[in-house]
Amino acid sequence: PNDVGILGMEVYFPLRYVDQAELEQFDGVSAGKYTIGLGQSKMSFTDDREDIASFCMTAVQNFMEKYNIAYEDIGRLEVGTETVVDKSKSTKSVLMQLFAESGNFHVEGIDTTNACYGGTSALFNAVHWVESSHWDGRLALVVAADIAVYAKGNARPSGGAGAVVMLVGPNAPVVFETGLRSTYMQHLYDFYKPDLSSEFPEVDGPLSVVSYVRSVDQCYQDFLKKVEKVDGVAHASLDNAGDYFVFHSPYTKQVAKGLARMGYMDFLRQPDAPEYVGLQNYRDVPYEQSLTTKEIERAFVAQTKPVMASKVNPSLMAARDIGNSYCASLYFGLASLLCAVPSEELQGRRVVCFSYGSGSAASMFALRVKGSVAPLAERLQLRERLEKRTKVSPEDFDQLMSLREKTHQLRDYQPTGSLDNLFPGTYYLANVDTKFRRDYQRT
Ligand code: ACO
Repeated sequence: PNDVGILGMEVYFPLRYVDQAELEQFDGVSAGKYTIGLGQSKMSFTDDREDIASFCMTAVQNFMEKYNIAYEDIGRLEVGTETVVDKSKSTKSVLMQLFAESGNFHVEGIDTTNACYGGTSALFNAVHWVESSHWDGRLALVVAADIAVYAKGNARPSGGAGAVVMLVGPNAPVVFETGLRSTYMQHLYDFYKPDLSSEFPEVDGPLSVVSYVRSVDQCYQDFLKKVEKVDGVAHASLDNAGDYFVFHSPYTKQVAKGLARMGYMDFLRQPDAPEYVGLQNYRDVPYEQSLTTKEIERAFVAQTKPVMASKVNPSLMAARDIGNSYCASLYFGLASLLCAVPSEELQGRRVVCFSYGSGSAASMFALRVKGSVAPLAERLQLRERLEKRTKVSPEDFDQLMSLREKTHQLRDYQPTGSLDNLFPGTYYLANVDTKFRRDYQRT
């Protein structure tokens, strides 16, 4: 099959959000810490009515209805998530109830988990299946979804929640480019979830941030070499390696820092280029030291500002207004880009994606817009849908977070959240029985 890539996209985020400026006040931190310091304006969250399976069901069913695709046409379904409600039963298996009526039980694929990277691994799996000798001509669905919640404290404002569905198959308008993928993985305890009774991770914030930028550096350097080979250019850099750069966004400030590292890597590869006259102090800093040197960060955030504005900002709409949706974050970035830039302008453009999951796993890969993406943008309506949400006070948000915490993993439990707080067409948790079996209904 030719031009394997993304044929369609749908997103889901909850109806309610909390405002980050109001949260700053409520948390008693200095004004600007979340809005400027983290670069976040709103954070999506949900109460005890929704879990990861309901999120994925909502996203998949809404996708199928919007694109008018039959469940019989799907031959593979992959879920990437780190929001786990069962140590054995996959979210994919729960999604199979959507297929039951069609009689299609012949669907490969299962869940993939590693922090925020599972969605990327799921997407790669789907692409590989379509490109493989086992492909049977049907299409693949990939769901990247998470409910990102942190214990009270400094990490809480970096939460979020959402799901992205992508349809993968041949002759796609958004194509995976051949030979342009690099990966960096290592063993690290920066963010992990060893306590299975809690939804909250253990987080070493500073370590996660260093690991994020290290992964950017390592993926980018390898990626540039591949660009030089594939494009036949002598020297690849931010100028010519991609037209847009989409990042996993824990919060948008981190994305600016990731881009700054790419600017720094460009500098180290050609420190004598004329644009770097004022930056010569940084050419001989030992690598490990460079990862935490604020001065370097500031200098290259400033140096890459124009690239940030033209090649990165269009992909940050959802990240700023939803927060970190872990596995879904990068793909909300892609959806934002498709909605922010007119389809004609995107024609022929290369979109470089950077995926990072703690623990850690990271990849950088290239997509090429080869066909019209107007039908995707029209169905996504991202900006319009984000604006239709309801703001909740930090007090109420705090209470609902406590409710989630107290009722997490209960058996024989009837959720109490009102159905009025869900968009129409949302699946919700109706009941958990004495054997922990979950029953879902749709608004
Ligand atoms: N106005 C403007 N900026 C401010 C203000 C203010 N009033 N107050 C603080 N800031 C700035 C700080 O200077 C800092 O900026 P810098 O990063 O450019 O130095 C920024 O706001 C954050 O402030 P910190 O004090 O560093 O924040 P804190 O340590 O309290 O929390 C952290 C940040 C560690 C990222 C936390 O939110 C966290 O642990 N999150 C979860 C882990 C995470 O998201 N890691 C990212 C990659 S891994 C992943 O995706 C999960």
